[in-house]
Amino acid sequence: MAGKRNPAQNQLENYFKEKGNLGIVTTSTGEPIAYKDASVTVGKKGPIVLSDWELLDELSHFNRERIPERVVHAKGGGAFGYFQVTTDITKYTEAKVFSKVNKKTEMAVRFSRVAGEHGAADTPRDLHGFAMKFYTDDGIWDLVGNNTPIFFIRDPILFPHFIHTQKRNPVTNLRDPTMVWDFFSLRPETTHQVLWLYSDRGIPDGFRHMDGFGSHTFSLINKDQKVTYCKFHFKTDQEIKNLDPKIATQLAGSNPDYYIEDLYNAIANGDYPSWTMYIQVMTPEQAANSSVDPFDLTKTWSKKTYPLMEVGKFVLNRNATNYFAEIEQLAFNPSSFVPGINGSPDRMLQGRIFAYHDSHIYRLGANYAQLPVNCPFKVNNFQRDGKATINNKGGAPNYHPNSFGGPNSDLKLKRYQNFQYVEGKIGQYDTIDEDNFSQATDFYKRVLKEDERQRLVNNIVDDLGGAAKKVQDRAVENFKKVDLEFANKVRDGLKRKATVNV
Ligand code: HEM
Repeated sequence: MAGKRNPAQNQLENYFKEKGNLGIVTTSTGEPIAYKDASVTVGKKGPIVLSDWELLDELSHFNRERIPERVVHAKGGGAFGYFQVTTDITKYTEAKVFSKVNKKTEMAVRFSRVAGEHGAADTPRDLHGFAMKFYTDDGIWDLVGNNTPIFFIRDPILFPHFIHTQKRNPVTNLRDPTMVWDFFSLRPETTHQVLWLYSDRGIPDGFRHMDGFGSHTFSLINKDQKVTYCKFHFKTDQEIKNLDPKIATQLAGSNPDYYIEDLYNAIANGDYPSWTMYIQVMTPEQAANSSVDPFDLTKTWSKKTYPLMEVGKFVLNRNATNYFAEIEQLAFNPSSFVPGINGSPDRMLQGRIFAYHDSHIYRLGANYAQLPVNCPFKVNNFQRDGKATINNKGGAPNYHPNSFGGPNSDLKLKRYQNFQYVEGKIGQYDTIDEDNFSQATDFYKRVLKEDERQRLVNNIVDDLGGAAKKVQDRAVENFKKVDLEFANKVRDGLKRKATVNV
């Protein structure tokens, strides 16, 4: 017996019910077309003529349908909704998004997988992107996080190398565990994130069942220019749920878009997913005296010392009306701050402040910010022209200063970049010798329960077992610095796997 059809399966029928007949088909320049089912040819069997503009129009546009996929996080899904404040935090920030309790701000959110390409399955083990765009009264605030509070590295110069190891081996064109574990074991600061990734949370049961994190340390700035450092957390109101790796593998074959389908249908059925926002705050004095570097992205802040404070909630209640236009063309920028929220000395964040804008210019073009999903606001500046400009600002002056109405700056507005003071000798300071293990140990011994620890070992053995022997040995040596018993279990598991494989 056929099951009930879900909203995703009924999309075309629903569209037809709503819109009905769409009228006469046209060319891309709007000319009505008399006959759409045949090219213009010389006689019934002869060749096509070059003046068949309708055919040329179809073929040339089709050739340009694909744009470069995101270099990372290419596979993903998203939706729209709103954020609503539940607690007054104006003593920390003057950001308008937090200006009063109950205030609502429109949002776009895109969830993704880090390593998979655009057409990859949703369910292989991976970190997941959790990118949020807040359309605030003062412009766009993008909080481009993941479903984990930490990351593999703490210096952006390593990012392209780390990502190469997560993608395909250039010769075999296959994912290569030797590359993956070679990098992990040579850069021990990855250990904390590696343990997290190979734990149960490495395969969430859909986007709706995972938490999100801003991950970096940010600054909140209040109306008196007082700075407070802050971490953002988003706890799923749908409960955390993870997939058994065997089921995840089956789903990768039977329903590779499992996460996207789940999100679309939940929203279409009115079962709107939501996440509760919390912050952790730290004063600059606490930061200066902290035993853990508060700007190191491989580390979390203690929840005992810096407790979670509920701030608000976001709800996703609207699917895209066109996925390419509204989700694929979303461009998130960790550099998009608003008055009241800014960066911090976190170097990874600084690297990202360059990377995303640069990537968007390549992926979507110089005028990507004019696309309606990226900026529905009136923008007042002197940028003009470029490919596919939508709003070229008519006859407004395109130079500054001018005597014809500006737009002009306003000294009353504060420059938020001025709040940080730094000094030091310019040089290259490798962070490999910093504390790479204490929080990994804590995660293994205190956060995970016994059965979770065993599954972590199994998951690591499964993947590490495919790496070269010397890489396996180095990984086990690193794990000894997390916990000796853990390292021994991994070593024994690898031995058993090697015996089975022989
Ligand atoms: C996407 C670079 C670290 C989360 C991207 C993209 C680039 C990039 C170039 C593609 C952007 C696009 O074409 O739309 C980097 C660099 C990093 C870094 C250079 C380190 C220095 C991180 C970290 C996180 C993160 C630490 C999370 C805490 C994301 C997310 C997306 C993304 C969620 C997808 C955004 C979307 O849905 O459009 N990254 N990334 N990245 N990155 Fe990063």
